[in-house]
Amino acid sequence: MKSKTLSLLVATSVLAGISTASIAQEKKDPTLAYRHHAMELIKDAAGSLVAIMKGEGNAADFEVHAKVLAASAHGSKWAFEQKVAGGETKDAAWKNWDDFSSKLDEFVVSADALHAASDGDMAAKAAAFKSTMSTCKACHDDYREEH
Ligand code: HEC
Repeated sequence: MKSKTLSLLVATSVLAGISTASIAQEKKDPTLAYRHHAMELIKDAAGSLVAIMKGEGNAADFEVHAKVLAASAHGSKWAFEQKVAGGETKDAAWKNWDDFSSKLDEFVVSADALHAASDGDMAAKAAAFKSTMSTCKACHDDYREEH
């Protein structure tokens, strides 16, 4: 049963377009896998929040998705601090660690603020969401290898 679940997971990852080379690399280094999954969770939580803001999701779950995003932001910060080269991270991240690390800090702070805005009205939620999403691009432009 366990191995069936695992092969299903691997199959899903392949379907999601993750190259077999990056899977092989992640098998060797669990921190790379953790980093990757934290980012994927962030993307999926953001997708769920967009659906809710468009009125296509369950508004009552906003807080849960925001919490997943914030927890994964903290997780990604920890994972990057292990400074494992590879994956889809450009070497520039390690070379310009101070800049990369301050972008990570801004991201974590804004993700926490997004989670805190769960109690607010839709305008406050949308503003907090927009500010969190601007931190993604600010970092990806310089430090993420697009495949
Ligand atoms: C401080 C930098 C930084 C911030 C902020 C950031 N990312 Fe990333 N992201 C990266 C890096 C670097 C990678 C490549 C990770 C790796 O080595 O696999 C990445 C990878 C990803 C991936 C692909 C999965 C992977 O690991 O290859 C997704 C999806 C993603 N990020 C979504 C987001 C979203 C959505 C946000 C904002 C809500 C965000 N990221 C914020 C740096 C960042």
